[in-house]
Amino acid sequence: MPLEKQWSFEDSGLWKLKLQLQFSGWLQYIIHAIWILILLLISGVGWLIGHWQVLLFWLPLGLATLLSIALVGTIVMVKYGLHPTEKLPPNKNHLDIFDLMRSRQSCRSFQSRNLTAEHHAELLKAVQFHTQENQLLGQKPIRFEYIKAPLTVWPVVGAHEFLVAIAPKKYNRLSIIDVGRSLQKIVIEATRMGIATCWIGPGADNKSIMQHLGNKIDPTKDHVICVCAIGYDSMYKPLFIRLFNRLMHKRLLLSELFFSDLSFNTPLDTQAKPYCVYGRCYEVCQWSPSSYNGQTTRCIAIIDQENGEENLIRFDFFASVNSRYYSPVALGIWCANWEIGCTALNRRGHFKVMSPSERVSAEAPELPRYDISWVVAEDLNRPD
Ligand SMILES: Cc1cc2nc3c(=O)[nH]c(=O)nc-3n(C[C@H](O)[C@H](O)[C@H](O)COP(=O)(O)O)c2cc1C
Repeated sequence: MPLEKQWSFEDSGLWKLKLQLQFSGWLQYIIHAIWILILLLISGVGWLIGHWQVLLFWLPLGLATLLSIALVGTIVMVKYGLHPTEKLPPNKNHLDIFDLMRSRQSCRSFQSRNLTAEHHAELLKAVQFHTQENQLLGQKPIRFEYIKAPLTVWPVVGAHEFLVAIAPKKYNRLSIIDVGRSLQKIVIEATRMGIATCWIGPGADNKSIMQHLGNKIDPTKDHVICVCAIGYDSMYKPLFIRLFNRLMHKRLLLSELFFSDLSFNTPLDTQAKPYCVYGRCYEVCQWSPSSYNGQTTRCIAIIDQENGEENLIRFDFFASVNSRYYSPVALGIWCANWEIGCTALNRRGHFKVMSPSERVSAEAPELPRYDISWVVAEDLNRPD
């Protein structure tokens, strides 16, 4: 007997309308219009009851008027691009590597200008370098295809150049970590050039990506993991995007991310010896991006006791949730920032996936899930 199909909200007309508005680029403005309607409703109620005229009538009416002017302005300037041409942002060569990594922030409104020929060439050089076999942690190749087309993405506006991250279709967690690690290194190089970026995973319409990739992808062998919008930040942003950017650019405390015990109960004292030698490496991991700011990576510093001496031998990286794609991508991004920071501080080491017996933690819980370790170079632990 055929099973009766259960009703789900995702089959409803309302959901389909939401998707249509989202991917046609109107939802940002509709949300803005809904705020105006709510304010007008409040002022209507205030007018009817006639009490607290200032609070319930004039204030919401004034706000609704200001928001309406802003809405018309943003539609004209952002949606239809009617504004003066914006300047090319300067490069960030003056920043040290930690400030550079901290200066990266997701850009959700792009200028209509294309990447300059120089930036385009330099970016593709970085893509080529960071996808070489000897730069990857895993054994499987990954690649980033450059596309110049207005892919359907949410809630980003104006993006028309992208890198599409592609891994082998057969699932391999280390390849997904590689996507995060390699693309983040490219993102940091782009940030140095003054190029703005936005990682886009759940907000990208797969159909539109496949359509624009054409014969650059073989669906029987390849899998699109996410895309990264690249271009120049625009000062013209819908109000919704300003709010979204602000809400998302927040992070958990270091004490909620780094631990010194295997049960994730004792926060790592990153200011104390021997951990403090990693300086701002902790901070740049804390501020690394993750899908919808999930911040799913955790770390335990491992100490070894030898001849009465304590040696910092490893940092183990974990994913705090079960997710096949976005948490390993976030963990890869975290690895890139960690590695770039360690290189700047000359704290040598390498990444290694260790077996439970090597880690002496065979009874590890399912979550957080262990993924990879940063093994400290042995000579860093020898006394000078
Ligand atoms: C794998 C991945 C997927 C993401 N997907 C989206 C997305 O679909 N839409 C979006 O606006 N931002 C997306 N982001 C950006 C995050 O929302 C953003 O990095 C996070 O909120 C932190 O903000 P910040 O990058 O400004 O520090 C994604 C980030 C990552 C790493």
